[in-house]
Amino acid sequence: MIDIHLHILPGVDDGPATIQEALALAVTLVQEGIHAAIATPHYNDEFPHRSANEIRERVASLQSVLNQYRIPLHLFAGHEALIQPELLNDLYAGRLATLNGSRYLLLELWNTSWLPETDRVIFELLANGIIPVLAHPERYRTIQHHPERLQTLLQQGLLTQLTASSLIGLQGNSAQKCAELLLKKGLISCIASDAHGLTRRIPAVARGMQRAVELVGQERVRQMVEACPSAILNNQSMYATSQP
Ligand SMILES: [Fe+2]
Repeated sequence: MIDIHLHILPGVDDGPATIQEALALAVTLVQEGIHAAIATPHYNDEFPHRSANEIRERVASLQSVLNQYRIPLHLFAGHEALIQPELLNDLYAGRLATLNGSRYLLLELWNTSWLPETDRVIFELLANGIIPVLAHPERYRTIQHHPERLQTLLQQGLLTQLTASSLIGLQGNSAQKCAELLLKKGLISCIASDAHGLTRRIPAVARGMQRAVELVGQERVRQMVEACPSAILNNQSMYATSQP
């Protein structure tokens, strides 16, 4: 399995504080069946902005420690960008990283409101060949109340990433209900951990996947945890995978 949304770089955002915590998280991810993952630190105003280059350097440095300890997790660089009007400029200036340098950008929304610029920013990204992968739609109140918005965005070319732990209730009841609904309606492109550590925002990938299999079957789950993340990681078109 490939994890396209993960906070594992020590001391960078609200992920692990130390290298020891990062290594412990990596070991758990491997135990849960993940062999490759994209480190996606937050790109918002809450944390210092780290350039795409800095993320790549930090990934390389953590990778060398993983190799030293023979932990078989292959890391790649990315960001989780909070939606804002300047994202395209930030991408072109090298401040913001797409997922492993691909055409795919992990994007998060404000939780409660569908701001007027939301549609415009998504349209601009798509028009410039950048495909937003919307992080954890099941957690946004605006999607919980209006899941049909996701249908429209998917038709425009956006992809969606469900967080595994939402499926077992670790993100609250509303997120769990919404996660089940979105999965059953075929509105989810891929599943990731969005793990931040082993004490809070834990991976819960195996349990989440088990629940997903109960809801939509093994083959759909395989597409969401292998085929779609692999296409993202390798900058391939999604037409090669069977999206809903
Ligand atoms: Fe995240």
